[in-house]
Amino acid sequence: MHVLARPCTTTTKMFAVSALALVVPFLSVASAAPAPAISVGASASASASVGHPEFSRELIEKVRAGAISAPSHSWEWGTMAEALIELDTPELSVFDAQSVPASADLALPPVALQTVDDALATKPAGKKYFYNTGAVGDQASIGVTALIASITTGNETYLDASAQQLDFLLNDAPHDGIVISHRNETFQAWADFISMAPPFIAYYGALNGDKSLLSNAYEQCKGYRTILQDEETNDTDLWRHILRGTWNDTGLWLTGNAWAAYGMLRVQQTIAKSAFADEFKSESADLLGWTNEILEAVWSRQRESGAMLNYMDKPEDDPTNFEDSAGTTLLAAAQYRLATITGSKHNIDAAARAMQRMIDLVDADGWIQGAVDPLAFDKPTADGKHSPEAQSFVLFLDTAARKYYETVGADDSEVGGGAGVSVSVDIPLTGPTTVDLGVGATATVGLPRRRVF
Ligand SMILES: *[C@@H]1O[C@H](CO)[C@@H](O)[C@H](O)[C@H]1NC(C)=O
Ligand SMILES: *[C@@H]1O[C@H](CO)[C@@H](O)[C@H](O)[C@H]1NC(C)=O
Ligand SMILES: *[C@@H]1O[C@H](CO)[C@@H](O)[C@H](O)[C@H]1NC(C)=O
Ligand SMILES: *[C@@H]1O[C@H](CO)[C@@H](O)[C@H](O)[C@H]1NC(C)=O
Repeated sequence: MHVLARPCTTTTKMFAVSALALVVPFLSVASAAPAPAISVGASASASASVGHPEFSRELIEKVRAGAISAPSHSWEWGTMAEALIELDTPELSVFDAQSVPASADLALPPVALQTVDDALATKPAGKKYFYNTGAVGDQASIGVTALIASITTGNETYLDASAQQLDFLLNDAPHDGIVISHRNETFQAWADFISMAPPFIAYYGALNGDKSLLSNAYEQCKGYRTILQDEETNDTDLWRHILRGTWNDTGLWLTGNAWAAYGMLRVQQTIAKSAFADEFKSESADLLGWTNEILEAVWSRQRESGAMLNYMDKPEDDPTNFEDSAGTTLLAAAQYRLATITGSKHNIDAAARAMQRMIDLVDADGWIQGAVDPLAFDKPTADGKHSPEAQSFVLFLDTAARKYYETVGADDSEVGGGAGVSVSVDIPLTGPTTVDLGVGATATVGLPRRRVF
């Protein structure tokens, strides 16, 4: 059994007050990997690994309900629909489908289909886009779900609307060469774009047998990387958030890097499972490499808690900086997906530590705490408010981790020693605490834990 979540004990910020749920796999002298947040005091040779973190199904039901109820903006609806597909009907998602396009024998989760219908019902008359927003990429965030709806229902309305949105992206939106702007006023590149439009462009190509669109989706990722990757320093492969246009956010924003990593994996899976996979081997390898590049740079900045800072280029003692659960969650999901795709366990320890921290941050009602305000970028969500996108990211992480531990990581419980036996301990985060794990060992939670608020 694993400890999953506890009620938030006060109304102040979760980072400052939450208990630490510590899941310690059965300890064995043979276990190797030390977990950064805990040290084991039983003997010099014993150590604990983060093991195999998981959310309870009961808690995920609550997270899911929150993810469905929270959205109020275009990309939040699109992201929620994608999360429901990955969670409820994985065979329809590019990560689990045998081939792309998906099979017509399956049905979309009803809420995902309803989300497309809602978009169509409010689609501006005479306009090509799904959502009336100046963010070109965000308009298309529901696009993959619409294309899958066209497959599973056979209703041509979904394909017609998708064709119009594609036309807007390719022909009406501002461009820099082949690269499409995230904004409609003038060319501007946002890292977020990579999760919004390229997966749709690629899926449209796979569905309609149009190789040039698979190539186009790849070129978007390549072009955005060229523009946004930090060229002024040699020590980072991270992407800046927003460049060009009339203003910018040059920071290495955590969630921006997460959108880029997860979006590139969706494009890669679409291409690699399409009828043209053999012709796109080098593009596919590039996309995996560029995702890994972001993840390597991110994990090198992972903090003791398991999370990363909201702006990875701002000092940790900058009072405006803080650990962000939204970006951390999506990056952990990307790492589990990458590992499942490649068969490599590289950096899985880091992803597991991040996931364990995120499990701690989901409250008993299923809301993830400590997420960046998705509209402000530079401050946490206000007390009592939630991040709709972070709710969906938890569903991505849950699904991605379960898939990894069922496949590539099926033997990972051995890392912690023992045959899946684990001990759960709730430790109040008030001072260095020694806890009897009941397995002939003790764990000491070392303080202070670095927190920036
Ligand atoms: C196709 O989908 C559209 C959009 O939801 C809907 O208005 C229409 O009734 C559907 N057509 C059929 C034949 O079901
Ligand atoms: C950009 O989108 C907004 C919102 O739909 C719209 O009001 C505005 O006219 C658009 N601008 C351009 C240049 O297309
Ligand atoms: C980055 O590396 C290149 C190639 O080694 C070098 O020419 C350049 O001066 C370096 N830039 C900085 C900012 O260190
Ligand atoms: C960001 O914008 C400011 C002015 O708005 C400009 O001076 C600066 O050069 C821009 N930074 C980058 C990296 O483009």
